[in-house]
This record gives sequence, C-alpha cells and structure tokens, in this order.
Amino acid sequence: MIETLPLKAPDPLLKIIKMFREDPRTDKIDLGVGVYKDASGATPVMRAVKDAEALLLAQQKTKTYVGQQGDVDFLKLIGQLAFGEMARDFVSIQAVGGTGALRLGADLLRESGAKRIVLPQPCWPNHPSIVRAARLEPVDAPFFNIAEQRIDMDALIGSFDHAERGDAVILQACCHNPLGADFSTDQWKALADALNARGLIAFVDLAYQGFGDGIDEDVAGARVLLERVPEAVIAVSGAKSFGIYRERVGALFVKTAEKSRPAVMSNLAAIARANYSMPPDHGAAIVREVLSDAALRASWREELDQIRAHIKRTRAQLAAERVNSLPMHLIAAQKGMFSTLPLNGDQINVLRETHGIYMTDAARINVAGLRESDIPRFVEALKAVA
Ligand code: LMR
Repeated sequence: MIETLPLKAPDPLLKIIKMFREDPRTDKIDLGVGVYKDASGATPVMRAVKDAEALLLAQQKTKTYVGQQGDVDFLKLIGQLAFGEMARDFVSIQAVGGTGALRLGADLLRESGAKRIVLPQPCWPNHPSIVRAARLEPVDAPFFNIAEQRIDMDALIGSFDHAERGDAVILQACCHNPLGADFSTDQWKALADALNARGLIAFVDLAYQGFGDGIDEDVAGARVLLERVPEAVIAVSGAKSFGIYRERVGALFVKTAEKSRPAVMSNLAAIARANYSMPPDHGAAIVREVLSDAALRASWREELDQIRAHIKRTRAQLAAERVNSLPMHLIAAQKGMFSTLPLNGDQINVLRETHGIYMTDAARINVAGLRESDIPRFVEALKAVA
C-alpha cells in the first residue's frame, strides 16, 4: 500500500530554502524564510539566550518529563508578556512551536463543533494546511486591497457571512505575514463587534511580538479584541521574539468562561497526548529563565530593540528608493519582518535565476533578512525587472 502513495508537492516556503541552499553563487540574497539576519548575514543566538542556556546546563537536575501542560512557569511568563493580567484567566498549554499551537487550537475548535476557519487572504501559507489537517474547512476571505495597499475591513467582515456560529477566524496579532499590514485599534474593536454579532471565535496568531513597534505596542490591539470577546483561542510562538527558531517554543491560550476551563484543559491535554505526549523542555526553559531574571530580561529586550531598529532602518532605506512601478514608499509604514511586492511569477523567476535573489512565490520579502550591504544590488535587480 505504502508504495502507491503519490508524490506531494513540496511546501512552497521550504522549497525556497532548498533552492537558495543549492544555488552556488556567493552573492545570492535570501529573502525567503522569516529569520532575522545581522550585518554579516548570520542569525546569532541572543546573548540572554546563551546566558540562560549556561544557567540551565549548570543547574538542571533532571531530565524527567515536564508534564502534560508543559512548563507552567514558562506559560505564566509568556502569557503575561502577551496578554498582561488577562492571561491569569486563560487556559494554557505548552506547544511545539507556534505551528504546533495553531494545530492544537484548530483541533480544539473542531472538538468544540467548529466546521470552518476563515482565513483573511493572503495568509501565512501554512495556515490552510494546518486547518485542513485538523479536518476543518478553510474559507478564504478578502482582506487586503492591493491597488490601494490597505486593509479592506468591509470585505473582511462581509466574508464572515460565509461562516456559521462556532466557526473561527484567524487574525494575526501583529507584523502580518506576508503583508506587514496591521489592524488599527478601531479595526480590532470592529472585528470584536463583528465576531460577537455572528457568534464567531477569534483565533489569534501571535508570532512576532517585539518586531513591529515594541513588546507592548505590538499586542495592544489584540488585547483590545480579547477584552471584548467572550471566547478566543490564541497561538503564541517564541521563535522570532527570542531568536530560538529551531527550539520550537510555543503555547496555546484559550479564553473561555470559568466553568468551561477544566473541560478545555482536558481536551487540550488529550489532543497533545495523542500527538506528541508531552512537550519538549529546552526552548521553553530558556524563555522562562530569560523572562524571570531581571538582568537577562533587560539584555533580551535591548537586543530585541536593536533587531527592531534594524528592521525599521532597512524599511526606511528601501522606502527611499524609486523603483519604476513599485510602491516602495509603502514599505516604511509596514510592520515586522515581511512586505509583499506587486511582482508577478516571471519577475520573481528572473530575480531568482538572473540575480540570485530569493523571495517567496507570492513576492513576499523578508525585510529582516536583508543586509544593508545587499540593498543596492537588490534595488538594482528590482529596477531591472519592474
Ligand atoms: C515564515 O513564514 O517564513 C516563517 O514563519 C517560517 C515558517 O515556518 O514558515
């Protein structure tokens, strides 16, 4: 039977990583996968992370299981970072990365009776796969007016009519992947009202806290929504904010009525148990150490501030360029790692093949991965194709 399996198309993002690695040119530029890179092109381990790892190495006394919910101190600290005091009332469970948290959330929604998940388009390419893997139906919703480069709230909220009570809507908390276009506070309020009116559940994806305007600034809007809705599911990733991508740090939080919390927790525990039993320890332990120690926390915040400043500087430099038909000036106002350029498949291919510049098939560029020394060559290549 196994021998009859048909070949599956590679994941569109992981395909770009492979293509880039296999390109022998030394001056190639990687704007594909979302990782931060410094001026030398490296993705360094943050100082606070290294220090926390040294502490763990010296102090860790056991490698026995962490338990079904995961590291509860980690959950408390990362919940507080994301949601402030509100987090105390949320059900929480450690997850295997932000993706694992999204999958736990999708499975929980299905168990609670959801049939569909609305996906504002364009979305992170892995969102539809996760939704389908959880045996839910992804419903594409218009979200962005490309010609005017703005969020189209009427279109987005109008699409909620294609969902039914108990279904959910994935909303990215900040630094939208792939657009860099975030909701304003008023738009978060309007979303909360629209969800409440239709009995839909907010499924919030928070993966880039600290990459936009600041740790607290980046979650202010999502907190406004979370205060206004009776129920919500929130997937949190620690990959980017702590630069520990491969450690797969994540958590799922659920807002629900007090009486429902034990049942929610028991369902999450059962879903996790059937998938990976108990979560890994190391990455969550790093985050716990960093957030619980004042000096490590200050060091982490300082380095995160520098990363954010680097992203903003790169955005400003790109926005100052004039590239024929491309609306470069808009890049400065967008937030976080990603922006999407209005380029077609042919242009993207020429950038790859002739210029060694790799972006996703949808022309998403990882601004946080663009070295200052590569900006002139990137801009010249854009001028050659656009
Ligand atoms: C990205 O979108 O580049 C990142 O979130 C990495 C990933 O897993 O896709």
